Amino acid sequence: MDTSEIRRRFLAHFENAGHTAVPSASVLVDDPNLLFVNAGMVPFKPYFLGQETPPYDRATSVQKCVRTPDIEDVGKTTRHGTFFEMCGNFSFGDYFKERAIELAWDLITKPIDDGGFGLDANRLYPSVLAGDDEAVSLWCKVTGLPEERIVQLGPKENYWSMGVPGPGGPCSEILYDRGPEYGPDFDATTLGPDMPFELEDRLLEIWNLVFMQDELSDVRSKSDFDISGSLPKKNIDTGMGLERVAFLLQGKQNMYEIDVMFPVIERAMELTGKTYGDNPEDDVRFRVIADHVRSSMMLIADGVTPGNEARGYVLRRLLRRAVRSMRLLGYDDPALPELMPISRDRMGETYTELHSDWERISRVAYAEEVTFRKTLQAGTQLFDVAAGDVKKSGGTRLSGDQAFALHDTYGFPIDLTLEMASEAGLSVDHEGFRKLMGEQRERAKADARAKKGQHADTGVYRGILDSNGPTEWLAYETLETESSTLALLQEGRSVTTLANGDVGELVLDRTPFYAESGGQSADAGIIEFDGGRLEVLDVQRPIKGLVVHQVRVVDGEFQPGANLHAQVDPQWRIGARQAHSGTHVVHAALREVLGPTALQSGSYNRPGYLRLDFGWTQGLTPGQYADIEQISNNALRADLPVSWDYMTLPEAKDWGAIALFGETYDNSKVRVVEIGGPWSRELCGGTHVDHSSQIGTIVLTGESSVGSGNRRIEAFTGVEGFDYLARERDVVNQLTGLLKTQPDDLVDRVQDMVERLKAAEKEIEKARVGQLLARAGELAAGATVIDGVHVVAHRADGAGGGDVRTLALDIRGRLPQGQPGAVVVIGAVDGKVAAVAAVNDEGRARGVSANALIRAVGPLLGGKGGGKDDVAQGGGTDTSRIDEALALVGTEVHHSAGQA
Ligand code: ALA
Repeated sequence: MDTSEIRRRFLAHFENAGHTAVPSASVLVDDPNLLFVNAGMVPFKPYFLGQETPPYDRATSVQKCVRTPDIEDVGKTTRHGTFFEMCGNFSFGDYFKERAIELAWDLITKPIDDGGFGLDANRLYPSVLAGDDEAVSLWCKVTGLPEERIVQLGPKENYWSMGVPGPGGPCSEILYDRGPEYGPDFDATTLGPDMPFELEDRLLEIWNLVFMQDELSDVRSKSDFDISGSLPKKNIDTGMGLERVAFLLQGKQNMYEIDVMFPVIERAMELTGKTYGDNPEDDVRFRVIADHVRSSMMLIADGVTPGNEARGYVLRRLLRRAVRSMRLLGYDDPALPELMPISRDRMGETYTELHSDWERISRVAYAEEVTFRKTLQAGTQLFDVAAGDVKKSGGTRLSGDQAFALHDTYGFPIDLTLEMASEAGLSVDHEGFRKLMGEQRERAKADARAKKGQHADTGVYRGILDSNGPTEWLAYETLETESSTLALLQEGRSVTTLANGDVGELVLDRTPFYAESGGQSADAGIIEFDGGRLEVLDVQRPIKGLVVHQVRVVDGEFQPGANLHAQVDPQWRIGARQAHSGTHVVHAALREVLGPTALQSGSYNRPGYLRLDFGWTQGLTPGQYADIEQISNNALRADLPVSWDYMTLPEAKDWGAIALFGETYDNSKVRVVEIGGPWSRELCGGTHVDHSSQIGTIVLTGESSVGSGNRRIEAFTGVEGFDYLARERDVVNQLTGLLKTQPDDLVDRVQDMVERLKAAEKEIEKARVGQLLARAGELAAGATVIDGVHVVAHRADGAGGGDVRTLALDIRGRLPQGQPGAVVVIGAVDGKVAAVAAVNDEGRARGVSANALIRAVGPLLGGKGGGKDDVAQGGGTDTSRIDEALALVGTEVHHSAGQA
């Protein structure tokens, strides 16, 4: 049964049982605890947490998931995929344990001809949390299995939570016995509390049913947590591994061999000439390729671009590991253009955006491969040198410094260093590397942290939210409001007073301040209290629903209380609205010029300034750049209306709204901002002008690369835009005054000057060399004869390496023909000394060597050098002993020629 049929049957089964089928959300999620969606329940979290009311009591989905902690295990076990699809059914306070068990059992054991998966009940083992007698008896009742078939496991296996305070509960896993070839025999009644490692392949977990019934106040590990009470409503959250069921039903050994993945392995076999199944090491590589090609494609489809932090780094690592695995299989040409389209064709049946957005997706992926190939080329040489050094000195371990230098200076990823080191029989001081990385990160973050004043631990905020409910947020309605204090914090702890000059975090019951989000910076302004004033330094929303102001007391002493007056700086807000609307305008103009595949990958705006990052591999041409600016400003002049509206995500998408990075599925309505009707429609929570002309002006100030596959446009808006133009005009005025010309002639005039300057420099250079060489004849004629050798030792102040060489060779050519000769010229420019020795054939026959001459003088010049017997060169940094060095030349010649 192919994967899409399994997916279809799953959804149909639950739809028939009254569930609403909900499409998969993006794998990107706006959650400080998660890098990616890692379970089917994540998009429904607000419902489970009671933050929002679900529009349905039962739902089912097949959710795209990414888990990357065990990236190293990919391909080594049968089960670890970085990307996978989780089939789930969810009950929000509706049915509970019994019905969940019935529904799952029915689907997996129902014969294939009747629409089920036809798994043999004799091979199935339900597991429960040890002591959950209710679950044991329900399983026996529903399935007719005897009690000995129910496996009782400890909380590490059979208690599920999100790893943070919130809902959790005991769970039941449905295990499938794949038979003795996959592991030792076992006795179901004595298994546990943990599942023995050697049984994980044999007793394959295919479905996890979570009976969400507890409220957790603290979660320290999978098996160490505090239950603070029962949830008001009991929920069901389940997850069935689509790939796992697929490999069982398709009779395959593992997830990499199923219909949606194996074709990539087949293509890799064709390209490399190697056969899957021949050699365990190569097999792992093939599986890594199949997994990573698919995962990275899915990540790019959802808006991730390769980078060096967080999500971008995961993507970069996946792409690079895939490419490198191909190289290890012996394929050195660009691999992704051969492999990724195969994965697209398989996954594209379900995720049609892989086809419609292919141009962008492939561009991002292929560009990263190109970058990586360059890094590999440079890095491999450096690695070889480092590894060679270690081996030469009899060591077996690359130091943390070496690994860090490879990473920091040459962009060589640590996992690659580790892999290559192990191939070279070396280990790496990974601890030392991590320490250096940590120090570097700390340095970089210190600044950002100081600004944000955020605590990684969101527990404090969660507590405030739980006891007070969400902040009433009025940023769209008003610029000022009366309000009162809900919490006052310093360093994450509640305080009762802030002295004049102190900085703290303030939570209000209602606020007009815009919290930094969606690329728009936080509002500035003040909060007045009885007897003083607070300046608002920053506004963040560390968790959904809670607005936190970072404030400094600028007048009086602040104590939490009522009667506050919060007031956004109106000038600031006007500037912010201009910049944010300006960002949408530039984005629309960009897409008009480059086509719809140019998609924003990030943005930032504050009053007067905006920047927009977008996925694009080449630099903009001057024509494209000018067009974008012109189209943007035409849109301002056209005075397009700006409006916003709320709708569901599918409605927004139908409407052509651009949904960007970070968007998560959320059943509440999304906000769509529209400028000029369909010209610009984006999902956006920012503040905007009412008419495009209010933006004033958009002045592009530059376009640059920000990492592989991404470009950045920057611009000034509003008054800052006009100021920028005024400054430019001032520069032009000064230049026209200086050059005594008209603005229109300025460019010609400067171009002409530059050309003349270049020509003059060339002339000067020619003259300089001419002068230098002009003395060659005179110097040759003045040679001293030492033991029959004509010797010239000359000091050429102001001559650099190239000139010194030219002069030395020229003098040598002018020495008397057929007679032994040796020349040493030493020049010095800017504290750098260059020395060249040149000896003719006859001189060499007498035993004089240019190499020996340079080696003799080198130490006096504070450097070293060498070369051949006829010409050698060296250098140093000590200019004080040049004369002494030249005096040594005669002695050295005497020494060699005298001996001959
Ligand atoms: N949320 C549960 C899991 O991920 C179903 O296993």
